[in-house]
Amino acid sequence: MSDVHVVVLAAGKGTRMKSARAKVLHAAAGRPLLEHVLDAAERLAPRSITIVIGHQGEAVRGALTAYPHLQFVVQEPQLGTAHALLTTEPLLGRKSGTLVLLSGDVPALRAETLQQLVQAHTSAGAAATVLTAHVADPHGYGRIVRDGEKIAHIVEEKDASPAERAITEINSGIYAFDLAGLFDAVRSIGASNAQREYYLPDLVGIFRSAGRVVETLTVADTAEIQGVNSRLELADAGRHLRMKTNASLMVSGVTLEDPDTAYIEADVQIGTDTVIKPGVTIEAGSVIGANCTIHSGVRITRCTIHDGVTVLDHCVLTDSVVGAGASVGPFAHLRGETHIAEHTKIGNFVELKKTVLGEGSKASHLAYLGDAVIGTGVNIGAGTITCNYDGVRKQVTTIADGAFIGSDTQLIAPVTVGEGAYVGTGTTIREDVPPGALAVSAGKQRNIEGWVEKKRKKQS
Ligand code: UD1
Ligand code: CA
Repeated sequence: MSDVHVVVLAAGKGTRMKSARAKVLHAAAGRPLLEHVLDAAERLAPRSITIVIGHQGEAVRGALTAYPHLQFVVQEPQLGTAHALLTTEPLLGRKSGTLVLLSGDVPALRAETLQQLVQAHTSAGAAATVLTAHVADPHGYGRIVRDGEKIAHIVEEKDASPAERAITEINSGIYAFDLAGLFDAVRSIGASNAQREYYLPDLVGIFRSAGRVVETLTVADTAEIQGVNSRLELADAGRHLRMKTNASLMVSGVTLEDPDTAYIEADVQIGTDTVIKPGVTIEAGSVIGANCTIHSGVRITRCTIHDGVTVLDHCVLTDSVVGAGASVGPFAHLRGETHIAEHTKIGNFVELKKTVLGEGSKASHLAYLGDAVIGTGVNIGAGTITCNYDGVRKQVTTIADGAFIGSDTQLIAPVTVGEGAYVGTGTTIREDVPPGALAVSAGKQRNIEGWVEKKRKKQS
């Protein structure tokens, strides 16, 4: 489909969102609406993608730096969809082939549907092919008026007669056009209608009068062409996209105990027989292995979780790697390129930041391990804290294989605890501990006999 040029209309205000942000930048299923549209567009492998921007145009342009090949045109003021398309003439006026027109606010449109549209359009040799749908409630949409089998013209809700309003076949606002003669025809569109706007759907009537072929392609699943105009519709679109992702995960062998509350972004990979409990969020850039269990209230972002891992309730894992067979949580926080190896255990109220934890090591309760390099088979006692920040710089704590860190230890970085060393409970480690040594810093315990009795007497 090398002769395809895509235009995405995204200049409109989106008044009904009641938002300071451009409508097409609102997220559904974790991604801006416009990105969903662009992903479908890119799968056509078009020669170009042009976005018509206007309201919040610079914010829209700035949000799309991940797509290097886009062209932008600014439509100012916004005089309607035909006027919007006309702004692309300087870029596309001399091209030939097919122009596919999309709206930036229709996120559920599938690439397969677009491919079918282009296919139907080119094989019919049509001037225009309109993507349509039959809907239960056509309110607000342009209606497809047919003359026998053929589409005759499109009438907007506000201009429609009562009989036309009863038509339930609607215009999706998505079209394929033959670039030959397109812009001349668009220029002939007037604005003598209820909204005093230049309506792109008027092209259908114009082409038909000129004796050119206009075709339609009707989608079976109307959810696919649903536009987002309000926050309610944004939530609907998000739910629809999420359910598609969830369904394909379940088909591939992942158990979602409650798909309604599984928030898993589309590019996340999950292995077979992994169980996702209710209320879990797994964000883009994450890979989860097989045979894992992810419990409720967990959020995982840009992490790699290997096979057989258990993440207990209410953990936040960001930019981290969890080795096979590890157990994390409940209430644990892994972040900043933390890497915990196979069969490690991170228990409740433990935070790891930019820390490497070797195979079989454990931090079972209440600890902060930041900028630490910890070997294999290490035990980190409750209340251990790496004091990694001196107010200016972050410093590294190194704990070698087999070391045992007693409870309530502070390790003042930079510091190293040698292989197999022991650190006594309540120790403040300011200097390196040699391999095999015991480090203690607390003074000798003193007991004052009869102290309580004496105190009571004083008070009375
Ligand atoms: C449009 C169609 C209608 C169709 C519906 C499908 C027209 C006149 N009507 O109506 O037949 O059923 O889509 O959702 O086209 N835009 C611009 N510049 C403008 C105006 C709009 O870029 O000057 C963009 C909007 O940002 C949006 C798209 O074009 O992405 C559609 O515009 P919108 O005003 O939402 O059209 P509808 O009234 O929904
Ligand atoms: Ca509108």
